[in-house]
Amino acid sequence: MKTILKKMLDVKKEFPIFKSNPGLVYLDNAATSQKPKTVIESLKNFYEKENANIHRGVYTLSEVATEKYEESRKIIARFINANPEEIIFTKNTTESLNLLSYTIQELIEKGKNEIILTEMEHHSNLVPWQQMAKRNNFKIKFIPIKNFELDYDKAQELITEKTALLSITHVSNVFGTINSIDKLIGIAKVNNVLTIIDAAQSIQHISVDVKKLNCDFLVFSGHKMFGPTGIGILYGKKELLEKLSPFMTGGGMIEKVSYEKASWNEIPLKFEAGTQNIGGVIALGEATNYLEKIGINNIREHEKELLEYALDKLNEIKNIEIYNPGKDKSLSVISFNIKEIHPHDVASILNDYNIAIRAGHHCCMPLMKKLNIPGTCRISLSIYNTKEDIDSLINGLKKVQEVFK
Ligand SMILES: Cc1ncc(COP(=O)(O)O)c(C=O)c1O
Repeated sequence: MKTILKKMLDVKKEFPIFKSNPGLVYLDNAATSQKPKTVIESLKNFYEKENANIHRGVYTLSEVATEKYEESRKIIARFINANPEEIIFTKNTTESLNLLSYTIQELIEKGKNEIILTEMEHHSNLVPWQQMAKRNNFKIKFIPIKNFELDYDKAQELITEKTALLSITHVSNVFGTINSIDKLIGIAKVNNVLTIIDAAQSIQHISVDVKKLNCDFLVFSGHKMFGPTGIGILYGKKELLEKLSPFMTGGGMIEKVSYEKASWNEIPLKFEAGTQNIGGVIALGEATNYLEKIGINNIREHEKELLEYALDKLNEIKNIEIYNPGKDKSLSVISFNIKEIHPHDVASILNDYNIAIRAGHHCCMPLMKKLNIPGTCRISLSIYNTKEDIDSLINGLKKVQEVFK
Protein backbone atom coordinates (compact mmCIF):
# COMPACT_ATOMS: atom_id res chain seq x y z
CA MET A 1 0.00 0.00 0.00
CA LYS A 2 1.36 3.42 -0.94
CA THR A 3 1.98 5.82 1.97
CA ILE A 4 -0.66 8.23 0.80
CA LEU A 5 -3.40 5.58 1.08
CA LYS A 6 -2.21 4.65 4.57
CA LYS A 7 -2.39 8.30 5.62
CA MET A 8 -5.89 8.57 4.18
CA LEU A 9 -7.18 5.63 6.24
CA ASP A 10 -7.65 7.94 9.20
CA VAL A 11 -9.59 10.48 7.18
CA LYS A 12 -12.82 8.46 7.50
CA LYS A 13 -12.78 9.09 11.26
CA GLU A 14 -13.11 12.81 10.61
CA PHE A 15 -16.53 12.28 9.00
CA PRO A 16 -19.25 11.62 11.63
CA ILE A 17 -21.64 10.09 9.05
CA PHE A 18 -19.55 6.91 9.11
CA LYS A 19 -19.86 6.62 12.90
CA SER A 20 -23.63 7.17 12.69
CA ASN A 21 -23.95 4.60 9.88
CA PRO A 22 -21.53 1.76 10.69
CA GLY A 23 -20.42 -0.19 7.65
CA LEU A 24 -21.68 2.43 5.18
CA VAL A 25 -19.89 2.23 1.83
CA TYR A 26 -20.55 5.65 0.35
CA LEU A 27 -19.81 5.78 -3.37
CA ASP A 28 -22.03 8.69 -4.44
CA ASN A 29 -19.64 11.56 -3.92
CA ALA A 30 -20.36 13.14 -7.30
CA ALA A 31 -23.91 13.78 -6.05
CA THR A 32 -22.74 15.25 -2.76
CA SER A 33 -19.79 14.71 -0.45
CA GLN A 34 -19.98 13.90 3.24
CA LYS A 35 -19.03 16.64 5.71
CA PRO A 36 -16.05 16.62 8.07
CA LYS A 37 -16.47 17.45 11.76
CA THR A 38 -14.89 20.87 11.32
CA VAL A 39 -17.57 21.91 8.82
CA ILE A 40 -20.44 20.62 10.96
CA GLU A 41 -18.95 22.35 14.01
CA SER A 42 -18.56 25.58 12.08
CA LEU A 43 -22.31 25.60 11.31
CA LYS A 44 -23.19 24.75 14.91
CA ASN A 45 -20.81 27.37 16.23
CA PHE A 46 -22.27 30.07 13.98
CA TYR A 47 -25.88 29.49 15.05
CA GLU A 48 -25.00 28.94 18.71
CA LYS A 49 -22.54 31.77 19.16
CA GLU A 50 -22.28 34.17 16.26
CA ASN A 51 -25.63 34.41 14.48
CA ALA A 52 -26.36 37.92 13.17
CA ASN A 53 -27.03 39.49 9.79
CA ILE A 54 -24.02 40.88 7.91
CA HIS A 55 -22.94 44.19 6.32
CA ARG A 56 -25.59 46.08 8.31
CA GLY A 57 -25.21 45.97 12.06
CA VAL A 58 -22.86 48.25 13.97
CA TYR A 59 -22.89 45.88 16.94
CA THR A 60 -20.16 43.35 17.70
CA LEU A 61 -22.06 40.19 16.73
CA SER A 62 -22.86 41.53 13.27
CA GLU A 63 -19.30 42.77 12.81
CA VAL A 64 -17.91 39.33 13.68
CA ALA A 65 -20.35 37.59 11.29
CA THR A 66 -19.42 40.05 8.51
CA GLU A 67 -15.72 39.54 9.11
CA LYS A 68 -16.04 35.75 8.98
CA TYR A 69 -18.24 35.88 5.86
CA GLU A 70 -15.70 38.06 4.06
CA GLU A 71 -12.82 35.91 5.35
CA SER A 72 -14.49 32.94 3.66
CA ARG A 73 -14.54 34.85 0.38
CA LYS A 74 -10.78 35.39 0.73
CA ILE A 75 -10.14 31.70 1.49
CA ILE A 76 -12.12 30.58 -1.59
CA ALA A 77 -10.47 33.23 -3.77
CA ARG A 78 -7.02 32.04 -2.69
CA PHE A 79 -8.03 28.41 -3.36
CA ILE A 80 -8.69 29.11 -7.07
CA ASN A 81 -6.17 31.96 -7.41
CA ALA A 82 -8.81 34.70 -7.86
CA ASN A 83 -9.24 38.09 -6.20
CA PRO A 84 -11.85 38.18 -3.39
CA GLU A 85 -14.13 40.64 -5.25
CA GLU A 86 -14.29 38.13 -8.11
CA ILE A 87 -16.04 35.56 -5.86
CA ILE A 88 -19.84 35.70 -5.75
CA PHE A 89 -21.84 33.55 -3.39
CA THR A 90 -24.85 31.83 -4.96
CA LYS A 91 -26.96 28.82 -3.97
CA ASN A 92 -25.15 26.24 -6.14
CA THR A 93 -23.61 25.60 -9.57
CA THR A 94 -27.10 25.68 -11.10
CA GLU A 95 -27.84 29.16 -9.78
CA SER A 96 -24.42 30.43 -10.88
CA LEU A 97 -25.11 29.24 -14.43
CA ASN A 98 -28.64 30.68 -14.40
CA LEU A 99 -27.25 34.02 -13.24
CA LEU A 100 -24.90 34.05 -16.21
CA SER A 101 -27.55 32.87 -18.68
CA TYR A 102 -29.78 35.82 -17.72
CA THR A 103 -27.11 38.53 -17.71
CA ILE A 104 -24.30 37.62 -20.10
CA GLN A 105 -26.12 38.95 -23.16
CA GLU A 106 -24.72 42.42 -22.37
CA LEU A 107 -21.15 41.17 -22.82
CA ILE A 108 -21.73 39.57 -26.21
CA GLU A 109 -20.50 41.39 -29.30
CA LYS A 110 -23.05 42.18 -32.04
CA GLY A 111 -23.18 39.55 -34.80
CA LYS A 112 -22.25 36.67 -32.49
CA ASN A 113 -25.19 34.34 -31.92
CA GLU A 114 -23.90 30.82 -31.29
CA ILE A 115 -23.40 28.99 -28.01
CA ILE A 116 -21.01 26.04 -27.86
CA LEU A 117 -21.63 23.32 -25.27
CA THR A 118 -20.55 19.68 -25.23
CA GLU A 119 -22.58 16.50 -25.52
CA MET A 120 -21.60 15.57 -21.96
CA GLU A 121 -23.08 18.57 -20.10
CA HIS A 122 -25.17 18.19 -16.96
CA HIS A 123 -28.72 19.59 -17.40
CA SER A 124 -27.57 22.56 -15.28
CA ASN A 125 -25.20 23.59 -18.05
CA LEU A 126 -27.68 22.85 -20.82
CA VAL A 127 -31.22 23.90 -19.91
CA PRO A 128 -30.34 27.51 -18.88
CA TRP A 129 -28.61 27.96 -22.28
CA GLN A 130 -31.58 26.48 -24.14
CA GLN A 131 -33.74 29.10 -22.43
CA MET A 132 -31.23 31.87 -23.16
CA ALA A 133 -31.05 30.80 -26.82
CA LYS A 134 -34.85 30.90 -27.04
CA ARG A 135 -35.03 34.39 -25.52
CA ASN A 136 -32.34 35.80 -27.81
CA ASN A 137 -32.74 33.71 -30.94
CA PHE A 138 -29.30 32.10 -30.53
CA LYS A 139 -28.22 28.70 -31.83
CA ILE A 140 -26.59 25.98 -29.67
CA LYS A 141 -23.93 23.68 -31.12
CA PHE A 142 -22.44 20.68 -29.34
CA ILE A 143 -18.86 19.42 -29.30
CA PRO A 144 -19.38 15.68 -29.91
CA ILE A 145 -17.93 12.85 -27.86
CA LYS A 146 -15.78 10.02 -29.19
CA ASN A 147 -14.71 7.13 -26.93
CA PHE A 148 -16.03 9.00 -23.86
CA GLU A 149 -13.84 12.03 -24.65
CA LEU A 150 -14.46 15.29 -26.48
CA ASP A 151 -13.63 15.42 -30.16
CA TYR A 152 -11.17 18.31 -30.20
CA ASP A 153 -10.88 18.44 -34.01
CA LYS A 154 -14.64 19.00 -34.19
CA ALA A 155 -14.37 21.61 -31.43
CA GLN A 156 -11.84 23.51 -33.53
CA GLU A 157 -14.33 23.53 -36.44
CA LEU A 158 -17.31 24.53 -34.30
CA ILE A 159 -15.76 27.51 -32.49
CA THR A 160 -15.77 30.38 -34.97
CA GLU A 161 -16.13 34.18 -35.10
CA LYS A 162 -19.89 33.60 -34.77
CA THR A 163 -19.47 31.95 -31.36
CA ALA A 164 -20.65 34.10 -28.47
CA LEU A 165 -19.79 31.78 -25.62
CA LEU A 166 -18.37 28.40 -24.74
CA SER A 167 -19.71 26.74 -21.59
CA ILE A 168 -18.14 23.39 -20.76
CA THR A 169 -17.71 20.99 -17.91
CA HIS A 170 -14.18 20.48 -16.59
CA VAL A 171 -14.90 16.87 -15.58
CA SER A 172 -17.82 14.74 -16.80
CA ASN A 173 -20.17 13.62 -14.04
CA VAL A 174 -20.96 10.48 -16.07
CA PHE A 175 -17.59 9.32 -17.48
CA GLY A 176 -15.18 11.10 -15.13
CA THR A 177 -13.39 12.39 -18.25
CA ILE A 178 -11.03 15.29 -17.56
CA ASN A 179 -11.61 17.65 -20.47
CA SER A 180 -8.69 19.64 -21.91
CA ILE A 181 -10.31 22.93 -21.00
CA ASP A 182 -7.05 24.83 -21.48
CA LYS A 183 -7.00 23.73 -25.12
CA LEU A 184 -10.66 24.78 -25.62
CA ILE A 185 -10.19 28.11 -23.83
CA GLY A 186 -7.20 28.73 -26.12
CA ILE A 187 -9.34 28.16 -29.24
CA ALA A 188 -12.11 30.34 -27.77
CA LYS A 189 -9.76 33.26 -27.03
CA VAL A 190 -8.56 33.38 -30.62
CA ASN A 191 -12.19 33.93 -31.65
CA ASN A 192 -13.04 36.41 -28.88
CA VAL A 193 -15.45 33.95 -27.26
CA LEU A 194 -16.58 34.21 -23.62
CA THR A 195 -15.63 31.09 -21.63
CA ILE A 196 -17.49 29.47 -18.75
CA ILE A 197 -16.16 26.44 -16.88
CA ASP A 198 -18.42 24.15 -14.87
CA ALA A 199 -16.03 22.95 -12.16
CA ALA A 200 -18.69 21.11 -10.10
CA GLN A 201 -16.88 17.78 -10.56
CA SER A 202 -13.27 18.98 -10.58
CA ILE A 203 -12.84 21.51 -7.78
CA GLN A 204 -12.68 18.83 -5.05
CA HIS A 205 -10.26 16.58 -6.96
CA ILE A 206 -7.69 18.61 -8.92
CA SER A 207 -6.06 21.98 -8.69
CA VAL A 208 -8.02 24.77 -10.40
CA ASP A 209 -6.25 28.06 -11.08
CA VAL A 210 -8.46 30.61 -12.84
CA LYS A 211 -5.55 32.87 -13.75
CA LYS A 212 -3.61 30.06 -15.40
CA LEU A 213 -6.74 28.82 -17.19
CA ASN A 214 -7.64 32.35 -18.25
CA CYS A 215 -11.35 31.45 -18.23
CA ASP A 216 -13.86 34.30 -17.96
CA PHE A 217 -16.18 32.56 -15.49
CA LEU A 218 -16.02 29.40 -13.37
CA VAL A 219 -18.78 27.87 -11.25
CA PHE A 220 -19.01 25.19 -8.56
CA SER A 221 -21.03 23.95 -5.57
CA GLY A 222 -19.94 23.90 -1.93
CA HIS A 223 -21.76 20.67 -1.09
CA LYS A 224 -19.61 18.59 -3.45
CA MET A 225 -16.39 19.82 -1.78
CA PHE A 226 -17.20 18.95 1.86
CA GLY A 227 -19.19 22.14 2.46
CA PRO A 228 -22.89 22.48 3.34
CA THR A 229 -25.73 22.39 0.82
CA GLY A 230 -27.23 25.68 -0.35
CA ILE A 231 -23.99 27.49 -1.12
CA GLY A 232 -22.31 27.85 -4.50
CA ILE A 233 -19.69 29.99 -6.21
CA LEU A 234 -19.57 32.11 -9.30
CA TYR A 235 -16.09 33.33 -10.19
CA GLY A 236 -15.88 36.03 -12.85
CA LYS A 237 -13.07 38.26 -14.10
CA LYS A 238 -13.38 41.62 -12.34
CA GLU A 239 -13.75 43.68 -15.52
CA LEU A 240 -16.56 41.42 -16.75
CA LEU A 241 -18.46 41.33 -13.44
CA GLU A 242 -18.31 45.12 -13.33
CA LYS A 243 -20.01 45.29 -16.73
CA LEU A 244 -22.73 42.71 -15.92
CA SER A 245 -26.10 43.80 -14.57
CA PRO A 246 -27.34 42.15 -11.39
CA PHE A 247 -29.48 39.03 -11.72
CA MET A 248 -31.53 39.73 -8.59
CA THR A 249 -32.27 43.10 -7.05
CA GLY A 250 -33.36 44.21 -3.58
CA GLY A 251 -31.66 44.73 -0.24
CA GLY A 252 -27.91 44.58 0.25
CA MET A 253 -26.96 45.00 -3.43
CA ILE A 254 -27.75 48.71 -3.84
CA GLU A 255 -25.72 51.90 -3.58
CA LYS A 256 -28.60 54.41 -3.54
CA VAL A 257 -32.37 54.02 -3.85
CA SER A 258 -35.12 56.59 -4.43
CA TYR A 259 -38.82 55.90 -5.04
CA GLU A 260 -38.05 56.08 -8.76
CA LYS A 261 -34.75 54.33 -9.26
CA ALA A 262 -31.71 52.60 -7.79
CA SER A 263 -27.97 52.29 -8.39
CA TRP A 264 -25.85 49.26 -7.62
CA ASN A 265 -23.24 48.43 -5.00
CA GLU A 266 -19.71 47.49 -6.08
CA ILE A 267 -18.88 43.87 -6.99
CA PRO A 268 -19.26 41.32 -5.47
CA LEU A 269 -22.13 42.69 -3.36
CA LYS A 270 -23.97 43.83 -6.52
CA PHE A 271 -24.76 40.14 -7.10
CA GLU A 272 -25.67 39.18 -3.53
CA ALA A 273 -29.22 40.49 -3.05
CA GLY A 274 -31.05 39.75 0.19
CA THR A 275 -29.86 37.91 3.28
CA GLN A 276 -27.31 35.31 2.27
CA ASN A 277 -26.60 31.81 3.61
CA ILE A 278 -24.14 33.33 6.09
CA GLY A 279 -23.54 30.19 8.18
CA GLY A 280 -23.14 28.20 4.96
CA VAL A 281 -20.56 30.62 3.53
CA ILE A 282 -18.51 30.49 6.73
CA ALA A 283 -18.70 26.68 6.78
CA LEU A 284 -17.63 26.56 3.12
CA GLY A 285 -14.53 28.53 4.13
CA GLU A 286 -13.90 25.82 6.73
CA ALA A 287 -14.41 23.10 4.08
CA THR A 288 -11.88 24.84 1.81
CA ASN A 289 -9.40 25.01 4.69
CA TYR A 290 -9.96 21.29 5.24
CA LEU A 291 -9.30 20.53 1.56
CA GLU A 292 -6.13 22.62 1.62
CA LYS A 293 -4.95 20.94 4.81
CA ILE A 294 -5.16 17.50 3.18
CA GLY A 295 -3.68 18.94 -0.01
CA ILE A 296 -5.23 18.72 -3.45
CA ASN A 297 -2.22 16.78 -4.79
CA ASN A 298 -2.56 14.16 -2.04
CA ILE A 299 -6.26 13.89 -2.83
CA ARG A 300 -5.50 13.42 -6.52
CA GLU A 301 -2.91 10.74 -5.80
CA HIS A 302 -5.18 8.84 -3.41
CA GLU A 303 -8.16 8.92 -5.76
CA LYS A 304 -6.00 7.99 -8.76
CA GLU A 305 -4.82 4.84 -7.00
CA LEU A 306 -8.39 3.98 -6.00
CA LEU A 307 -9.74 4.62 -9.50
CA GLU A 308 -7.14 2.30 -11.02
CA TYR A 309 -7.95 -0.37 -8.46
CA ALA A 310 -11.70 0.00 -9.07
CA LEU A 311 -11.32 -0.11 -12.87
CA ASP A 312 -9.18 -3.28 -12.66
CA LYS A 313 -11.64 -4.99 -10.31
CA LEU A 314 -14.73 -3.94 -12.27
CA ASN A 315 -13.18 -5.20 -15.50
CA GLU A 316 -13.09 -8.69 -13.93
CA ILE A 317 -16.90 -8.69 -13.51
CA LYS A 318 -18.67 -10.78 -16.14
CA ASN A 319 -20.97 -9.05 -18.64
CA ILE A 320 -20.02 -5.56 -17.54
CA GLU A 321 -19.83 -2.56 -19.84
CA ILE A 322 -17.72 0.33 -18.52
CA TYR A 323 -18.15 3.87 -19.86
CA ASN A 324 -14.75 5.35 -19.10
CA PRO A 325 -12.01 6.87 -21.28
CA GLY A 326 -9.20 5.20 -19.27
CA LYS A 327 -7.47 5.75 -15.96
CA ASP A 328 -5.13 8.49 -17.15
CA LYS A 329 -7.89 10.51 -18.75
CA SER A 330 -10.47 10.42 -15.97
CA LEU A 331 -10.94 10.95 -12.27
CA SER A 332 -13.11 9.73 -9.45
CA VAL A 333 -16.18 8.66 -11.47
CA ILE A 334 -16.91 5.30 -13.12
CA SER A 335 -20.15 4.53 -14.95
CA PHE A 336 -21.06 0.99 -15.91
CA ASN A 337 -23.90 -1.38 -16.74
CA ILE A 338 -24.28 -5.08 -16.20
CA LYS A 339 -25.87 -6.80 -19.18
CA GLU A 340 -29.61 -7.31 -18.86
CA ILE A 341 -29.84 -5.88 -15.34
CA HIS A 342 -31.41 -2.44 -14.96
CA PRO A 343 -29.15 0.06 -13.12
CA HIS A 344 -31.92 0.73 -10.58
CA ASP A 345 -32.03 -2.96 -9.69
CA VAL A 346 -28.25 -3.01 -9.24
CA ALA A 347 -28.32 0.04 -6.94
CA SER A 348 -31.28 -1.26 -4.99
CA ILE A 349 -29.67 -4.65 -4.26
CA LEU A 350 -26.37 -2.96 -3.34
CA ASN A 351 -28.31 -0.84 -0.87
CA ASP A 352 -29.26 -4.07 0.95
CA TYR A 353 -25.53 -4.44 1.63
CA ASN A 354 -25.17 -0.83 2.84
CA ILE A 355 -23.49 0.27 -0.39
CA ALA A 356 -24.66 3.63 -1.78
CA ILE A 357 -24.20 4.13 -5.52
CA ARG A 358 -26.19 6.20 -8.01
CA ALA A 359 -28.26 4.77 -10.86
CA GLY A 360 -30.06 6.63 -13.62
CA HIS A 361 -29.40 9.35 -16.18
CA HIS A 362 -27.31 11.53 -13.83
CA CYS A 363 -29.01 14.69 -15.16
CA CYS A 364 -27.60 13.90 -18.61
CA MET A 365 -30.66 12.62 -20.49
CA PRO A 366 -29.43 13.60 -23.99
CA LEU A 367 -26.13 11.82 -23.33
CA MET A 368 -27.96 8.63 -22.30
CA LYS A 369 -30.01 8.85 -25.49
CA LYS A 370 -26.83 9.22 -27.51
CA LEU A 371 -25.36 6.12 -25.83
CA ASN A 372 -28.68 4.36 -26.41
CA ILE A 373 -29.05 3.29 -22.79
CA PRO A 374 -31.67 4.11 -20.14
CA GLY A 375 -29.01 5.02 -17.61
CA THR A 376 -25.91 3.75 -15.87
CA CYS A 377 -24.71 2.64 -12.47
CA ARG A 378 -22.24 5.24 -11.23
CA ILE A 379 -19.67 5.08 -8.48
CA SER A 380 -17.82 8.22 -7.47
CA LEU A 381 -14.90 8.35 -5.08
CA SER A 382 -13.63 10.70 -2.42
CA ILE A 383 -10.81 11.02 0.09
CA TYR A 384 -12.42 8.73 2.69
CA ASN A 385 -12.97 5.83 0.30
CA THR A 386 -10.70 2.80 0.59
CA LYS A 387 -9.81 -0.32 -1.35
CA GLU A 388 -12.06 -2.19 1.11
CA ASP A 389 -14.98 -0.08 -0.14
CA ILE A 390 -14.21 -1.21 -3.69
CA ASP A 391 -13.94 -4.84 -2.55
CA SER A 392 -17.38 -4.53 -0.90
CA LEU A 393 -18.77 -3.11 -4.15
CA ILE A 394 -17.33 -5.99 -6.18
CA ASN A 395 -18.75 -8.59 -3.76
CA GLY A 396 -22.09 -6.76 -3.89
CA LEU A 397 -22.09 -6.85 -7.70
CA LYS A 398 -21.46 -10.60 -7.61
CA LYS A 399 -24.50 -10.94 -5.33
CA VAL A 400 -26.55 -8.88 -7.80
CA GLN A 401 -25.57 -11.27 -10.59
CA GLU A 402 -26.53 -14.28 -8.45
CA VAL A 403 -30.02 -12.77 -7.91
CA PHE A 404 -30.51 -12.37 -11.69
CA LYS A 405 -29.04 -15.75 -12.70
C1 LIG B 1 -21.01 18.65 -13.86
C2 LIG B 1 -22.12 19.17 -12.99
N1 LIG B 1 -22.59 20.41 -13.20
C3 LIG B 1 -23.56 20.94 -12.45
C4 LIG B 1 -24.13 20.22 -11.42
C5 LIG B 1 -25.22 20.85 -10.61
O1 LIG B 1 -24.81 21.06 -9.31
P1 LIG B 1 -25.85 21.61 -8.22
O2 LIG B 1 -26.97 20.63 -8.19
O3 LIG B 1 -25.07 21.64 -6.96
O4 LIG B 1 -26.29 22.94 -8.68
C6 LIG B 1 -23.69 18.93 -11.15
C7 LIG B 1 -24.30 18.12 -10.08
O5 LIG B 1 -24.19 16.93 -10.00
C8 LIG B 1 -22.66 18.39 -11.96
O6 LIG B 1 -22.19 17.16 -11.76
